[in-house]
Amino acid sequence: MKALVLSGGAGSRLRPFSHTTPKQLVPVAGKPVLFHALDALTAAGIDDIGLIVSEADGPVSRAVRERPGFDARVTCIAQDAPRGLAHCVLIARDFLGDDDFTMYLGDNIFQGGITDTLDAFRARRPTAQLAVRKVTDPGSYGIAELDAEGRVIALQEKPEHPRSDLAITGAYVFTSEIHEAVRAIGPSARGELEITDAVQWLVSRGRTVTAHHFSRYWADTGTLTDLLACNKVLLQALTPAVGGSVDEHSRLLGPVVVEEGATLRASVVEGPAIIGRHSTLVNCRVGPYSAVGAHCRIEASDVADSVLLDRSTVQGVGKLRGSIIGKSADIRRDSADSGCHKLLVGDNSRVFVPR
Ligand code: TTP
Repeated sequence: MKALVLSGGAGSRLRPFSHTTPKQLVPVAGKPVLFHALDALTAAGIDDIGLIVSEADGPVSRAVRERPGFDARVTCIAQDAPRGLAHCVLIARDFLGDDDFTMYLGDNIFQGGITDTLDAFRARRPTAQLAVRKVTDPGSYGIAELDAEGRVIALQEKPEHPRSDLAITGAYVFTSEIHEAVRAIGPSARGELEITDAVQWLVSRGRTVTAHHFSRYWADTGTLTDLLACNKVLLQALTPAVGGSVDEHSRLLGPVVVEEGATLRASVVEGPAIIGRHSTLVNCRVGPYSAVGAHCRIEASDVADSVLLDRSTVQGVGKLRGSIIGKSADIRRDSADSGCHKLLVGDNSRVFVPR
C-alpha cells in the first residue's frame, strides 16, 4: 500500500504562522504536524509516500528531505493551487498507479497512529474506507451516514441538518476505483474538487464504502486553538529524556525532555514539557504543556501551556499562558519601563493583555 499525504493548501486559518511557515510545519509536541503524519505511516509499514506540496522545492519538501534519520521514499508532487482534495488524487495518478493507498491530510493528528484503520481496510478491502469519529458538533464537519452494517450510504458537507454525528477525519483508504470517481466529478460551489463528492460518486454507484471508527484523540490542527489543545494531549504521552545540561540549581519535575545542547540554569521545568535543541533557560519556570523549540531563550519568566517556535526569546515578561510564539519572535520587558505596552506585531497576529 502507498500513501498520499496532502501538504499543500492555503492554511488561511493558521495565520499569521502560515504566512511564513506552511501550517504542516508548525510544531506540535516538539515536532512538525507533518512529521507526526509521516511517522504514523511508517509505523503502519508504509514506506512509499507521495507528498502533495504547493512548491516543488519549497519549505515542506526541504524539511522532509533534510529530516535526519527518515528513510521512507517520499515523492513530492507540486499542486499549482489548492484545487481540492480530489484534485490531489488526480495529479498523483502516475505516482499511485493502480495500488491501494491511504490519503492522509498532512495537518491532521491521530493519537496512536492509523495502523488499526489500515488493518481494518486490509481485512475487508472495500472500494473505499473512511475513518470517522463521533463529534458533538457535526455541522462543522464532513459527515458520513451509515447503514446497519456500517456501510456508508451518504455523505454531507458541513450540513445544517446533520443526519449523523460521525465526522469524516483526514485518513481515507482507496482502491484504484477512486481514480474514475475523481475524473467524473466537477468543481463544487467553492470551486474545488471535493473528495466527499468523489466518495459519494462511488456510493451512488453501489460500490462498497465502509467506515472505520477511530476512537482515540483526533485533531485537525487547522486553527491556533486546535494546535494548543493538540499539543496538550500529545505531550501527555511524553517519555522523559535529558540530552542537554541542567545545572545544580535547576529542577526537572515530571516528564521533561531536554534536547541535546539545551542549557538550564537556575530554572524549574515542570512536565510534560519539551525544551528544544540548543535552547537556554535562565532563572525561569517552564510549566506543564510547554513545547519550546530549538535555539530559544527564556529568561526571568514563567511560561506554561505554550508553544515557542525556533529562535524565539521570552525575557522578563512574568506569566505567559496559552501562547504560541512565532519563529525568532522577541518578547521582552522594556528596559525604559515606560509603564505601557510597546508592540511590534505582524499582520493577523493576536495579542491579549491583562486587565
Ligand atoms: P484544508 O484544511 O481543507 O484546507 P487549507 O489548507 O486550504 O486550510 P484553510 O482552510 O486553513 O485555508 O486542507 C487539509 C489538508 O490538505 C491540508 O494539509 C492542506 C491539504 N490540501 C492540499 O494539499 N491541497 C488542496 O487543494 C487542499 C484544499 C488542501
